[in-house]
Amino acid sequence: MDHDEMSSIQAMVLRERRKSWMLRLWIATGIFFMALPGTLLGFSNLMAIASHHGLGVLPAAWIQGHGHAQVFGWVGSFILGIGFYSQPAHGRSVVRLPLVCYLLWTAGVASRWVAGIYGWHWRTIYPMSAGAELAAVLLFLLAASRHKRQEEKPAVETDASRAKSQRRPMPLWMVSVLLGAAGLLAMVVFNFVECVHLAHVGAGRAFPHGLDQRYLVLMAWGFMTPMVWGFSARWLPAFLAIPQPNPDLLSFALWMDVLGVLCGVSGWTLLATMFLAVGAVTISFALHLAERPHGQAKVAGIHPSFPSFVRLAFVWLSVAGFLGVWAAVADQHGGIWGASRHALTVGFVATMIFAIGPRILPHFSGFYSIYSKRLMLLSLLTLQTGCLLRVSSEAPAYEGILPLAWKVLPVSAMLELTGVLLFALNLLLTYSLGRSSFAVAPGEHGLAVC
Ligand code: HEM
Repeated sequence: MDHDEMSSIQAMVLRERRKSWMLRLWIATGIFFMALPGTLLGFSNLMAIASHHGLGVLPAAWIQGHGHAQVFGWVGSFILGIGFYSQPAHGRSVVRLPLVCYLLWTAGVASRWVAGIYGWHWRTIYPMSAGAELAAVLLFLLAASRHKRQEEKPAVETDASRAKSQRRPMPLWMVSVLLGAAGLLAMVVFNFVECVHLAHVGAGRAFPHGLDQRYLVLMAWGFMTPMVWGFSARWLPAFLAIPQPNPDLLSFALWMDVLGVLCGVSGWTLLATMFLAVGAVTISFALHLAERPHGQAKVAGIHPSFPSFVRLAFVWLSVAGFLGVWAAVADQHGGIWGASRHALTVGFVATMIFAIGPRILPHFSGFYSIYSKRLMLLSLLTLQTGCLLRVSSEAPAYEGILPLAWKVLPVSAMLELTGVLLFALNLLLTYSLGRSSFAVAPGEHGLAVC
């Protein structure tokens, strides 16, 4: 190997290391928001609701503060971190742009939480924090679109290569991820506009209930759902040894989701929930999750129960869809909506992250594998049990169908909190004690995931 080749390999390894360090920062921050401002606040909110037998006692800003920390602080930080990691960056753009984006995002989410919960200078902080979050997302999308253009451009552009690139349709998994990115942008714009509005003329620091319901559709079904569908369509065929997604069913599910979100944001709630439920059921068939695998699932380095939890997550998605339709026709006190929302956020999104995270995050961050397979199983089991108790008892308790269900909710909150803390502990142990894959020769550093 000559000197030039050596130095280009060294430069590549250095770039990979920097990207992995940056990803660790995003992931550690996401874990922080998930555990403390997110789940711990959700836990104490649920304790207060259960002891007073109703949502009425709790300030809406506290409920919204919990939702913001989970969706922006946790899921958003993970998505932005993985998004930057997946872009092949060059020179200074490896760290500088992601770092600026990271600082804007983290400052925005943290200051929003403090202002929302304590009311501290909230009229000044709300627009500033929402502006910082919007700027971070715009920077991220700018970097992603620049990278996409570079990737599509052949070294020598000829008529034939141009025609070929025009003919090649975009893979559907990417369409789904792009829809999720559009949902993310719409969500931060919505948040910014409402924060500015509240700061100028609002009586209090919480979004009004009706508007918040529309905003939640955007968060849950416009941003998180298509993102998870896209990554699932990309990775699950290899991870679970199942066929590639059925394109007709996948496009149909995406159409249902888009129509559902558009109707939900426009206030046509029943129609929205029907579209979303149909999409939620269709996606499992599109991904062939009920079919027998054609080979062994890739479970090296993770707990072998991984495929079952992935399938379970998609069952929760369908449950969320059906509960949504029920909520649209029958909800009186927020219990059915709450059950539907947490079937989606905890049952689907959090379970997917707890199952797929240990498979990909250690590799992307420069480690061989997750610290403990047992902790992985334990975190998934406690989360699932907590979610089952929560979703099954929320509607009977809040809606006054079965008062005994109030006693189950604190248990569910404790189990969910335990699951979240175990997941956080496992990742933090991986980062502090795990075997680094950078210690070996270039080319053998094991960053490939599938
Ligand atoms: C893991 C334990 C969790 C607990 C104990 C919890 C608790 C709560 C509680 C008590 C509420 C108030 C409404 C209701 O009673 O349903 C709520 C709302 C909410 N939660 Fe959770 N939650 C948890 C996890 C999550 C996760 C993982 C996410 C998102 C990824 C999430 C997102 C939300 C959202 C968006 C809202 C609605 C906020 C609003 O009304 O604007 N939660 N949660």
